[in-house]
Amino acid sequence: MDPAVWIEGSLEFAVAEAAGPDCPPMLAAAIRHAVFPGGARLRPRLCLAVAMACGKGDRDAAIAAASAIEIIHCASLVHDDLPCFDNAETRRGRPSVQAQFGPALAVLAGDAMIVLAFEILARRLTTRPQALGRLVTIVGRAAGAPYGITAGQAFESETVIDTALYHRAKTGALFAAASEAGAAACGAPSTPWRNLGAYLGEAYQVADDIRDAAGDEEELGKPIGVDAKLGRPNAVRDMGIPEAIRKLDVLVEAAIDSVPLCPGRERMHELIRHEASRFLPEKLARRAA
Ligand code: IPE
Ligand code: IPE
Ligand code: MG
Ligand code: MG
Repeated sequence: MDPAVWIEGSLEFAVAEAAGPDCPPMLAAAIRHAVFPGGARLRPRLCLAVAMACGKGDRDAAIAAASAIEIIHCASLVHDDLPCFDNAETRRGRPSVQAQFGPALAVLAGDAMIVLAFEILARRLTTRPQALGRLVTIVGRAAGAPYGITAGQAFESETVIDTALYHRAKTGALFAAASEAGAAACGAPSTPWRNLGAYLGEAYQVADDIRDAAGDEEELGKPIGVDAKLGRPNAVRDMGIPEAIRKLDVLVEAAIDSVPLCPGRERMHELIRHEASRFLPEKLARRAA
């Protein structure tokens, strides 16, 4: 079966519990709106790809970890679109959660989803306490402070901000967790896999900065020009588009080189190249030349 099908099924199961009949209906609708229909589902697909590359292990644990990570990602988007952050009206080609349901429900939906992520791990890994402990640690590190999304978003309130550190925390950390969790779910050492996600996540945020500066709003399904308007640190402001594209390429190569020796190493290289080739729309990718 296609891993994308496992991911959607697992997310559906998790959301059905949190946003079920006992949940206040508006909160339930806001949570559902945040998760479905999804975007690229990059982070859970990375998690499952690493689990498969490790060659053995527990598929259900990998799916639980992938789902927890995607739910945290969706929550981070809900909070990121709030008026106190990027004040975005659209997301994935639809009204953002705050635009559709209001900021109060967006705060609460994001909160409930972050908690749900850890509940998914706890409920599905009751018989594997060791894996549970490792996965909670990996996912928690990526979500909170000092290295995770919370810290990343908090850099926006500082006066002096290092763009790479900001990128690594707000985006790299969850990608790193995805690659580490894929290995941990299989009982393999996870630290050797951290750099793959960290480099890939940083590359993805550089690509997002380029799309924000020069992409097409309709195609992206979210507002563009936000970084310049809000004065966010970003790769295009720091180095211009051609250099940012070169940096993106360097980070993708670093991600490929970082893949540890494992049964699925060649397949993983192909997958990274394929996914990274889609980080930028073709007309932007050509601007490096
Ligand atoms: C958007 O992430 C936020 C960034 C880190 C740039 P994605 O582009 O992965 O969002 P979806 O899930 O596909 O909508
Ligand atoms: C989002 O960064 C990273 C998060 C932690 C949500 P951006 O603000 O650049 O992402 P988009 O452009 O809104 O998706
Ligand atoms: Mg933001
Ligand atoms: Mg934003």
